[in-house]
Amino acid sequence: MKTVRESHIYSYRRKIKMFSLPMLSVIMLLALKFHTVQSGKCPKFCICDNIQLTVACVNKNLTEVPPTIDEITVKLDLRGNDMQELLTGAFTHTPYLTHLSLQNSNIRRVREGAFRRLGRLVLLNLANNKIEILYQESFDGLSSLKQLIVDRNRVEEIQPGAFSQLGFLNLLSLTHNQLVYIPNMAFQGLQNIKWLRLSHNSLNYLATEAFAGLFTLTRLSLDNNELQFFPTETMTRLPEVTRLELSYNPMTYLGEESVSMSKLTHLLLDHNSLQDFSNAAILLSPRLAHLDLSHNQLRVLQPMAPGSPKLTRLNLAGNPIYCSCYMRPLREWAMRACSLGWYNLEAVQPADLRCQSQEAMLKAELEELSRLPTLPTTPPPDKVKCPANCQCEAENHHSSCENKGFTKIPHGFSPDTRLLDLRGNHFHYIPANSFPGTAEVVSLHLQRCKIHEVENGAFSGMKSLVYLYLSENDLTSLSPEAFKGLPHLTYLHLEKNRFTQFPKGAFKLLPGLLALHMENNAITKLEAGILTAVASRAFDPAPDLDTLHLGSNKLKEVPSEALSKASSLAELNLSRNPIRWIGPEVFQPVAATLKHLYLNHMGLEKVSKDSLAGLGSGLRSLFLEGNQLEELPDLGPLTGLEVINLAENPLVCDCPLLPLRKWIEQVNLKVRATCGHPPELRGQRVKDIHVFKSCPGEKPPPSQHPKPTKATKTESALIRPPKVIKIGKPSKTAKPNTVQKSTMKKRKLV
Ligand SMILES: *[C@@H]1O[C@H](CO)[C@@H](O)[C@H](O)[C@H]1NC(C)=O
Ligand SMILES: *[C@@H]1O[C@H](CO)[C@@H](O)[C@H](O)[C@H]1NC(C)=O
Repeated sequence: MKTVRESHIYSYRRKIKMFSLPMLSVIMLLALKFHTVQSGKCPKFCICDNIQLTVACVNKNLTEVPPTIDEITVKLDLRGNDMQELLTGAFTHTPYLTHLSLQNSNIRRVREGAFRRLGRLVLLNLANNKIEILYQESFDGLSSLKQLIVDRNRVEEIQPGAFSQLGFLNLLSLTHNQLVYIPNMAFQGLQNIKWLRLSHNSLNYLATEAFAGLFTLTRLSLDNNELQFFPTETMTRLPEVTRLELSYNPMTYLGEESVSMSKLTHLLLDHNSLQDFSNAAILLSPRLAHLDLSHNQLRVLQPMAPGSPKLTRLNLAGNPIYCSCYMRPLREWAMRACSLGWYNLEAVQPADLRCQSQEAMLKAELEELSRLPTLPTTPPPDKVKCPANCQCEAENHHSSCENKGFTKIPHGFSPDTRLLDLRGNHFHYIPANSFPGTAEVVSLHLQRCKIHEVENGAFSGMKSLVYLYLSENDLTSLSPEAFKGLPHLTYLHLEKNRFTQFPKGAFKLLPGLLALHMENNAITKLEAGILTAVASRAFDPAPDLDTLHLGSNKLKEVPSEALSKASSLAELNLSRNPIRWIGPEVFQPVAATLKHLYLNHMGLEKVSKDSLAGLGSGLRSLFLEGNQLEELPDLGPLTGLEVINLAENPLVCDCPLLPLRKWIEQVNLKVRATCGHPPELRGQRVKDIHVFKSCPGEKPPPSQHPKPTKATKTESALIRPPKVIKIGKPSKTAKPNTVQKSTMKKRKLV
């Protein structure tokens, strides 16, 4: 049966080829005429072209696929009908189809096997229908399909194996649907896929193996979704992707090494809510050349870490960037590294980027903001809604009423305001519902407003708020409902207020809080369990508190118990608290996640031997400068350290410090440790001191040293002033234990 049909088509086409062109048009005319006469071959309501072998039944409210379509048809156009359901085997009569158009046909459901026998189909367009579920066998039989378009439907579920038969598919387009998450292996079987379009969905979660097996994918479109974090693990599994589109997502930060994609050249992150972009974020994407960070909330961008890819284009337009000294390193780096798509920074000469006081810098920032619209490249500002005595810029959605002596929160801002600056007014207290019509505001500045009270629900309605600055006010406490209605609040600044206690309970309504700034208050104690509300989350994958700033308070000890629930903490700043002693294992509760620890300028006198217990290779930086430490615990386990500062401690340069000295030699880090005792060594760098040579347990001189370079160092040390060498000698003969305890006093005598 099949062979007969095939030969029929073959001879039919061959006959056509044999005619000359004029002859062909005559035939076509005849054929068209023939078809109108012979309407039996063409279904009612359809237009058939028996030469092109196409059938079109467009906008006819057909409720089923016409059963009488000629089986040799190759293109079938069924747009604008009322199909409701595509039944199993709906196209078995037309096995030669290569193109099938089914847009706008009110299709709600595609039954398993609906396209069975369409083994020659190359293009299937199902856009603008009402399909909700892609079943496991919805696309079975489409073994030659190259493009599948399911845009603008209601797809919310992709069943496992839905695409498993589509081994030739190049393009899969699922834009404008209702996908919320992508499960593991969702696209399994797409062995030739090049471009996957998932734009305009509601994706907020991608399983780690969501794109597993897509070894040929080069382009992935995920713009206009709800992704809050860069899905590092998921993306790492896409070895061939060169272009990744993540525009218009609500991401707030990109951490170190977030983007690890070996072939990526284009990364689009514009129109997110980025405030932080780690300078090592793209370190592991060596081919990245084009990075779009425009229209975010970036104020400062550090030069990319050494080893980062060489960008040829970086777009920073539409960010509230500080044109201050903070940007100077980036500019210098940029000039060296690449030619950037600079926005308004181009006009700023490096000399303008001087370091200034913080106050001057804030002023400069505002001047910069108000300068933006007058730049030649930007269009003249539109008229924009703005309260009297304030300045509002349509182009960058910034509204400012800074230092205007307001005593009540002004109303009447444009509804698309994204940054609202109310610093330096005299509000004293913030009543409930103080910010109506500001649902788009991402960043709210309320510094220096003499605020001593925030009423319950003060910020309600601010659905987009990510950054809230309440620093430099007079707050002493916060009621548990103060931050009600802020589902996206991520960075909260409460530093420089008058808290004497941690505002217990106030953070329980903030499911997305990542960074909490409480430094420069008068907090004396953190009770156990106090961080529970901040740190415990009902739903993964929402992250826990990541950054906690408690510097310059009145804490007398490391709040170990309070931290016991902060199991995701990566940065802890305790500097400038009156903590004299750090006990054993105090960082154990956060040891697994802690990366940056600030313990500087605390008057710290003693760090017990096991105080750093648990902190291992994860710790990247440790700040201990400006304390009263005479000795230190073993830093050997901290194998992941990149920064350490031990400066301004009166270290006793004697045998007990030997482990530290050895460690310094090994690690190749700038340690900044200097001796405080004995007096004759005061101020010398620990690594330059060689009295250690004579301590028990230290290996004797050069000849036995394994590495020649180290041997040279030791030799040069030995040629140092004789006085010092003498100091070292006596202990050589002493017994280990006694030496360690007594050398100190002996040496002071010298
Ligand atoms: C199809 O249905 C719509 C709405 O019921 C109607 O307005 C339209 O005229 C119909 N079209 C045809 C070709 O019957
Ligand atoms: C840590 O806290 C101190 C005191 O509040 C502050 O001066 C310092 O800048 C903080 N460090 C970081 C890195 O935030």
